[in-house]
Amino acid sequence: MKRTSLGQDSVVLVTGGNKGIGKETAREFCKLGCFVYICGRDKTTLEATKEEFLKDHYSIEALECDIRDYQSCSQLIATVITQKGRLDVLVNNAGMSMRGSIEASSCNIIEEMMKVNYLGPVALTHYAIGPLKKSRGSIVFISSLTALHGLPEVGPYGAAKLALKNLSESLRAELYQDDVHVGILHVGFTDFDSGKVIYDNNGKLIPLKRAKNHQTRNEVARQVLVCVRRRKKEMTLTALGKTASFLYRHFPRTSDALVCKLSAKKFLVGN
Ligand SMILES: NC(=O)c1ccc[n+]([C@@H]2O[C@H](COP(=O)([O-])OP(=O)(O)OC[C@H]3O[C@@H](n4cnc5c(N)ncnc54)[C@H](OP(=O)(O)O)[C@@H]3O)[C@@H](O)[C@H]2O)c1
Repeated sequence: MKRTSLGQDSVVLVTGGNKGIGKETAREFCKLGCFVYICGRDKTTLEATKEEFLKDHYSIEALECDIRDYQSCSQLIATVITQKGRLDVLVNNAGMSMRGSIEASSCNIIEEMMKVNYLGPVALTHYAIGPLKKSRGSIVFISSLTALHGLPEVGPYGAAKLALKNLSESLRAELYQDDVHVGILHVGFTDFDSGKVIYDNNGKLIPLKRAKNHQTRNEVARQVLVCVRRRKKEMTLTALGKTASFLYRHFPRTSDALVCKLSAKKFLVGN
């Protein structure tokens, strides 16, 4: 099996590396000696994460970037290349979830889900392809179990993540000759930073409340590393995710009926 070795010469960009899963992913790449760029919109957590990692003697730089802004995406990749001359791994982790039925959700929040979860990662990837071809590097997308089957109350979010899956397949074919790895991870319920927010059906930020998580941020981060090092195409995380994926694939009608029945009982909500 072909493998990617990562070390002091490797330059990695983790979007949304200032919080949550992204921060733990950045930390795992730092532990291998890679130079890691993190980006996000929130200056305070960007600086705090940079300071925290520098204290651990990690090689890190934090840059402001709103991935919904194409100019900002182009500038981010240009800065990485100007400063380091290469890019080996792009982890498209930044994203936002929401709650709300299609009927109750405003068209603006539906559009916002596509901008932050799909169009932003596509734009960054577009600008990063040139450098990644040179390094024969990796592009990774952080998707969700909601991409595997539509679930109630998270339709626009899940649709954006599903779009990433289709995009990753196109990219893999387009970049096959150039030996660029393209991977996607469908992530299940993961613990989160205190203060994590999602959107409600009208685009208002609300705190995320969840009774149970099935994995930690660090467990996801370590799977991202597995994806890059083993150049894996697609990974579905958690036992629930693997079981659901099996059922959706082999028993589509039963699982469809199950999703409808469970949602009628308000039992199902994805992330
Ligand atoms: N936690 C879960 O249970 C779970 C499950 C499945 C999939 N996921 C996926 O995993 C990824 C990380 O989730 P998380 O739980 O770690 O979320 P989180 O703690 O809310 O972190 C989201 C990250 O995305 C960044 N971000 C959001 N909008 C952005 C924008 N417009 N431009 C640049 N950065 C932006 C945020 O930084 P700023 O706020 O500074 O912009 C933050 O760093 C997401 O793609 C999410 O969909 C999470």
